[in-house]
Amino acid sequence: MSDKFVAAIDQGTTSSRCIIFNQDGAPVAVDQREHRQIFPKPGWVEHDATEIWAKVQAVVAGAIAKAGLRADQLSALGITNQRETTVLWDRKTGQPVHNAVVWQDTRTAALCTELGGADGQDRFRDRTGLPLASYFAGPKVAWLLDNVPGLRQRAENGEIAFGTIDSWLIWNLTGATDGGVHVTDVTNAGRTMLMNLETLQWDQSILDAMNVPASVLPEIRSSSEIYGTARGQVAGVPVASALGDQHAALFGQTCYAVGDAKNTYGTGSFLLLNTGQRPVPSKNGLLTTMAYQLGGEPPTYCLEGSIAITGALVQWFRDQLGIIREAAEIETLAASVEDNGGAYIVPAFSGLFAPYWRSDARGVVAGLTRYVTKGHLARAVLEATSWQTREVVDAMYQDSGVHITSLKVDGGMTGNNLLMQHQADVLGVPVIRPVVAETTCLGAAYAAGLATGVWSGLDELSSHWKRDAEWTPQMQPETREQEYHNWRKAVERSFGWLEEGA
Ligand SMILES: Nc1ncnc2c1ncn2[C@@H]1O[C@H](COP(=O)(O)OP(=O)(O)OP(=O)(O)O)[C@@H](O)[C@H]1O
Ligand SMILES: [Mg+2]
Repeated sequence: MSDKFVAAIDQGTTSSRCIIFNQDGAPVAVDQREHRQIFPKPGWVEHDATEIWAKVQAVVAGAIAKAGLRADQLSALGITNQRETTVLWDRKTGQPVHNAVVWQDTRTAALCTELGGADGQDRFRDRTGLPLASYFAGPKVAWLLDNVPGLRQRAENGEIAFGTIDSWLIWNLTGATDGGVHVTDVTNAGRTMLMNLETLQWDQSILDAMNVPASVLPEIRSSSEIYGTARGQVAGVPVASALGDQHAALFGQTCYAVGDAKNTYGTGSFLLLNTGQRPVPSKNGLLTTMAYQLGGEPPTYCLEGSIAITGALVQWFRDQLGIIREAAEIETLAASVEDNGGAYIVPAFSGLFAPYWRSDARGVVAGLTRYVTKGHLARAVLEATSWQTREVVDAMYQDSGVHITSLKVDGGMTGNNLLMQHQADVLGVPVIRPVVAETTCLGAAYAAGLATGVWSGLDELSSHWKRDAEWTPQMQPETREQEYHNWRKAVERSFGWLEEGA
């Protein structure tokens, strides 16, 4: 066995994981813990940042113990995280001033409409690559400053720090109130809607428009460099990477060449296409966003198709409808019938993200007849994931002219064979899953290991990637087109459900 180890923390929406990798990029130990989802009102989603920090410390300790290592045997520690989720804390006490506002939270929808004004949703798109939507962090910061009593004044006085989860963790890991470093990386900063995509710096005109004081902001750094040295349980280990979870998955899948793409299937699904060293503007509802930046090298950009609800629809089918007890049972149920029986489910639970960005959409079940059984609905649940992915792939082609010839996949839903076959069928290209499906952690470990000399460069990392499973398209083209046509009819029926002022 090789003798260098890198730990990666994946602080996700539902849980925190720590995985320790050896020099071959193989996992040697994993630990994972869930944290509370707090729903104060319909559409509001919060996390307790203090609880998250405690869970992170616990999984780091757990993974080190399971690996049978001492902390000083770690060459580096990398961070990857749920994106956009917003924490504000007191620099003196180290305590959060409010629960973290989670990416899924829709409380800033009205604020976003107001910010758009006469220019509309794309007011900041040329500078940030993003449409105005409650998804992004900047409006969440503004909302907190305006709604937590006294907070704006404290922020103006320099007492308050803002961070996405990467910043919160790095600050705590490197000493918190005792010299903690207040930084973020370009991939996370790019999701605030406050960073200029060309300069990779905070954009003063947007800060002014959103009324966010520069005094709260972290310093923007690359995704792969030593930000500081850890204190506490991993004292002495360099903290050497930060990447939003989807960017880390792209990096872990070794999508380093222009045209390389991956799709990660978790709570939602996020398809990222490497577009190289220039940002490619989107005219078809995709995000122009950072892929990664390694130390002092020029940054790499990507186009992203963000789908809010995919695995979460399976959770809804399990928890709210109670038709299955375990997520994996959906495959058996779906396999009990030949096809969807004419039924389609559009999971616009809190509107639709890419490529539509419609906050007025709500979920629909379309095509019901008395013929439809729970087996057909199980199929419709799974097919909702592959059709939403197809729409994003079409938008990628329209924006970039790149025809993908295969799709690398990862995440919890890729354990579902029926879904992966349907995905290959509706895309008409092979779908490929690597041996190490924990690509999010792997990407954070790779970036941290590159910064500390564990690995020599991207070629070495690419040589680790190995195919585990591949699905090839089998559907007749006529069937594919007919089904796609039906799916799009169902999507149209979800639009405009929420009426103005409602
Ligand atoms: N066999 C399966 N078939 C279909 N869906 C599944 C299956 N197994 C898991 N899922 C879904 O996959 C999701 C979990 O995937 P994963 O573990 O990759 O997410 P995660 O990384 O924990 O999410 P997050 O980062 O958002 O916290 C759940 O939404 C679950 O419903
Ligand atoms: Mg995840």
